[in-house]
Amino acid sequence: MNKTILITGGAGFIGSHVVRLFVTKYPEYKIVNLDALTYAGNLENLKDIEKADNYIFEKADITDAEHINKLFDQYKFDGVVHLAAESHVDRSITDPNAFIYTNVMGTANLLNAARELWKDNYEGKLFYHISTDEVYGSLGETGFFLETTPYDPQSPYSASKASSDHLVRAYGNTYGMPFVVTNCSNNYGQNQFPEKLLPLFINNIRNNKPLPVYGDGKYTRDWLYVVDHARAIDTVYHNGKQGETYNIGGFNEWQNIELIKLLCKQMDEKLGREAGTSEELITYVKDRPGHDRRYAIDANKIKNELGWEPSVTFEEGLSITIDWYLNNEEWLNNVTSGDYQKYYEKQYA
Ligand code: NAD
Ligand code: TYD
Repeated sequence: MNKTILITGGAGFIGSHVVRLFVTKYPEYKIVNLDALTYAGNLENLKDIEKADNYIFEKADITDAEHINKLFDQYKFDGVVHLAAESHVDRSITDPNAFIYTNVMGTANLLNAARELWKDNYEGKLFYHISTDEVYGSLGETGFFLETTPYDPQSPYSASKASSDHLVRAYGNTYGMPFVVTNCSNNYGQNQFPEKLLPLFINNIRNNKPLPVYGDGKYTRDWLYVVDHARAIDTVYHNGKQGETYNIGGFNEWQNIELIKLLCKQMDEKLGREAGTSEELITYVKDRPGHDRRYAIDANKIKNELGWEPSVTFEEGLSITIDWYLNNEEWLNNVTSGDYQKYYEKQYA
C-alpha cells in the first residue's frame, strides 16, 4: 500500500461516504477512519466495507491531543482528510462549547500532530480541511458566495468552523503546511442523522408527525447530494492546488418551504397517500435565533479548474434519499431512540 490516509469523522454522514469512496476506489491506499462515535457517528454506516483489507477503524477523540499524537506516530499518515466536527447549528446554540472544543481545539490538535510528523519534509503530504459555506454568513436576495467572499459567521457552529479554517491557512502560511480547504453547501442523502431538515422531515412524514418549519419558511439553502460531495473531495484531494480554497455546491437553491412541498409530494406518491396529505403536517414554529436567510455557492472554480460538477439532479437525488430512508427503518429507529428522543422533546417543545 503506497499511502496511508487519515479520514476523521468517517463514521458520520459525509465522512462515511468519503471513506467508502476512498476504500473502494484506491485499494493501494491504507485508509484509517478516526472517529469518537458521538451521537452522530455510527459504524453501521460502513458495514459494507468494514472488512476491506485496506480499511482500519480507530476510536479516538480529536480533542485528546496525546491520543492523536500517538496515532500519527503509529501510522505515519501521508495525508489527512478532516471531517470530524460537531455539525448541527441548533445544538451549537444550546451548547456552543462542544463546538469550540471539537471544531477549534480538535483541528488544532490534528494540525500540530501533522506538523510534528511532517516538518522535516512536506513533500507528498496534504492536510485537507472540510468546511462549510456557513462561514461566509448570510446573503441577501441576490449574489453568491465566492472563494474570496469575506468571512462573516453568524452562529456558534459557523464561527467555530471559520476559526478552524483560519487555523489551517495560518499553519500553511507560518509553517509551510501543505493544505487545501473546501467550503460546501448543505448536503443531503442516505445516512444523515435525522436532526437535519431532510431526514427529520422524511421520518416525521413517515410517522405522521408535524413538520416544524422555522419562521416564515422562506430561508434559502443550496442542496448537494452527499455522494457528489464525496466525489468532489476525491477530486480536490488528488488534483486540487495546494494552499487553495474551493467552494462546492449544487447549483441548486431552494426556499425551505418549496423544498418541503416537493418532499411532501414525492413522499405521498411513494407511500401511496392521497396528494396533499403530507403537506397538512406542515407546522410553522418559532424561528431559530440568528437564522441565516440565504446561502448560495458559486461553484464555478472547482468546475472550471478541476472539472467537477454534480452528477445527479435534485429530483433524482431526493428520490434516492427518500427510498433509502423508507427501506432502512431499522437504522432510523436505532438512531432516533434513546438520547435523541430527549433532544427532540427539548428542541421542539
Ligand atoms: P456529522 O455530524 O454527521 O458527523 C460528524 C462525525 O464526526 C461523527 O461521526 C462524529 O462521531 C465525529 N466526531 C464529532 N466530534 C468528534 C471528536 N471530538 N473526535 C472525533 N470524532 C468526532 O457531520 P457531517 O454532516 O457528516 O459533516 C462532516 C463535515 O462536513 C463537518 O466538518 C461539517 O462541518 C462539514 N460540512 C457539512 C455539511 C452538511 O450539510 N452536513 C455541509 C458542508 C460542510
Ligand atoms: P439544517 O438541516 O439544520 O441545516 P443548516 O442550518 O446548516 O442550513 O437546516 C436547513 C434549513 O431548514 C435551515 O434554514 C433551518 C431549517 N429547519 C427548519 O425549518 N426546521 C427544522 O426542524 C430544521 C432542523 C431546520
